[in-house]
Amino acid sequence: MDKRAALIAGLAVTCLLAARSATLSQGAQQPAPPPDAAPVPYALTMGDMMNTLVQPRHAKLGIAGRAGNWPLAGYALVEIRQTFAGIVKAQPRFRGYPVGELVDAALSAPLRAVDAAIKQQDTAKFAAAYDQLTQGCNACHASLDHPFVVIKAPAASAFPDQDFDTQR
Ligand code: HEC
Repeated sequence: MDKRAALIAGLAVTCLLAARSATLSQGAQQPAPPPDAAPVPYALTMGDMMNTLVQPRHAKLGIAGRAGNWPLAGYALVEIRQTFAGIVKAQPRFRGYPVGELVDAALSAPLRAVDAAIKQQDTAKFAAAYDQLTQGCNACHASLDHPFVVIKAPAASAFPDQDFDTQR
């Protein structure tokens, strides 16, 4: 067997194993639907919404505020507020707990403090308010049985294609 054939054979075995373990892990939760079943729209779970909507917006808000980019920070604040308004509508309860009330208790005051700091264009106040916001995230995680999801201020930007410094 030449090198290329050996590589392809190896890949085939890997794919077979991956397919088998995927089937097994899916099967462990629920039976796979038949391949000709009508497609069902993907419903975002709470974890999906946190991971894809909340986390990047929390980070962007922090980066913009630290840079003193007030127009961008103001925009990021609107975005994160809208995100939570949408989450509360999409998932009014999480494991029986009222999400709207929890979001309100955890985030309302810190979001107002962030808003005030942005309006005053005060970097030190922003840092304190943003820290309060982050503690609000963690308070909700702790009260909803996810104390191990620990949020902190971003050390660096994870968005190489966005300029957080230029103010327009
Ligand atoms: C209503 C309470 C609540 C608030 C407020 C909240 N979270 Fe969450 N968060 C959750 C719950 C519940 C989960 C676990 C969801 C799951 O796994 O089904 C979670 C999970 C997460 C995760 C893990 C998702 C993953 O797939 O890795 C991240 C990241 C996260 N939250 C970020 C944040 C940030 C940032 C904030 C604050 C801006 C925040 N959350 C505020 C309830 C909350």
